Amino acid sequence: MLIKKPADIKSSEITDYADFKQRRYFIKQAALLGIGAGLGSLPLQSAAKNTDSRSRPLKPLLKTSYGQGLKQTSYDDITSYNNFYEFGTGKSDPADAAHNLKTRPWNIVVEGECEAPGEIGIEEILSGFVQEERIYRLRCVEAWAMVVPWVGFSLGDLLKRFKPTSRAKYVMFETLFDPDQMPGQLRNTLDWPYTEGLRMDEAMHPLALLSTGLYGEELPNQNGAPVRLVIPWKYGFKSIKSIVKIRFTETMPKTTWWQMQPKEYGFYANVNPQVDHPRWSQKKHRNIGEGIFSGKHETLMFNGYADEVAGLYKGMDLSKYF
Ligand code: MTE
Repeated sequence: MLIKKPADIKSSEITDYADFKQRRYFIKQAALLGIGAGLGSLPLQSAAKNTDSRSRPLKPLLKTSYGQGLKQTSYDDITSYNNFYEFGTGKSDPADAAHNLKTRPWNIVVEGECEAPGEIGIEEILSGFVQEERIYRLRCVEAWAMVVPWVGFSLGDLLKRFKPTSRAKYVMFETLFDPDQMPGQLRNTLDWPYTEGLRMDEAMHPLALLSTGLYGEELPNQNGAPVRLVIPWKYGFKSIKSIVKIRFTETMPKTTWWQMQPKEYGFYANVNPQVDHPRWSQKKHRNIGEGIFSGKHETLMFNGYADEVAGLYKGMDLSKYF
């Protein structure tokens, strides 16, 4: 995500994050090989340290057919190139700083338009729902993508437990607010806490995933531990991390990016190559981890999940409701 104002930024600055990642990867490899001593080796070493310590395995894990055949992004790339502004706006900041986040105990409060409001703890989430592996592509609004073997289960299975009423038209999610643990929250980069939202039918769609892990292990902190959303047909900013609150609402919730820059980030945020971001095209993307010479890929409508989700938006003008 980019927080510069439109006037501050050239379009050439936007799509080059993948190139940046490649350069960083090259520098890291060079550092490992002892080439180019002094090339910013300190931050790189600390990022490498944090991504090398792997998380606890998750069991039991049900393998599914979602995404079979897609080439997966490496664990190192998924866990070292992140957007998690609570830990800074740089792509390597979360891997460097998120190890201080305490993810136990962890509870999610569920409230609003439902018959059974309450709380659910992470241990119950891990033991009470069958954890599945689903390989989904996550397409960031910045025109890069990753293919991740996520672990989790359908969000709707959890929401149903709290018995949303007929007045619940939307559901809102909130990230932890704790500047002691999340130093990025000491700055005004976003209006904290980070919030996101879905229409109820989107939230109940079986593809909408509440994720607890990746690569068969618990989520690393930089990827949103202990529990985050993954909405594969929407731009990455809808996939809110480190969730502590869920609220059923009658009206459309005010969500972080949409509120901050409504002309750039809509509430729906469906991946749509036909609707450009005001400052760059959304027609193509780069896959993180592929060489800079491997070129860009065509972005597909709804990120390739049109067969499953297009029906949710029948009759809507998607350039207006972007
Ligand atoms: N959730 C919170 N709380 N804070 C954030 O800054 N960034 C979003 C999303 N969820 C973000 C967040 C954006 S812009 C993207 S692209 C994805 O997380 C990135 O997920 P990843 O780092 O696991 O690839």
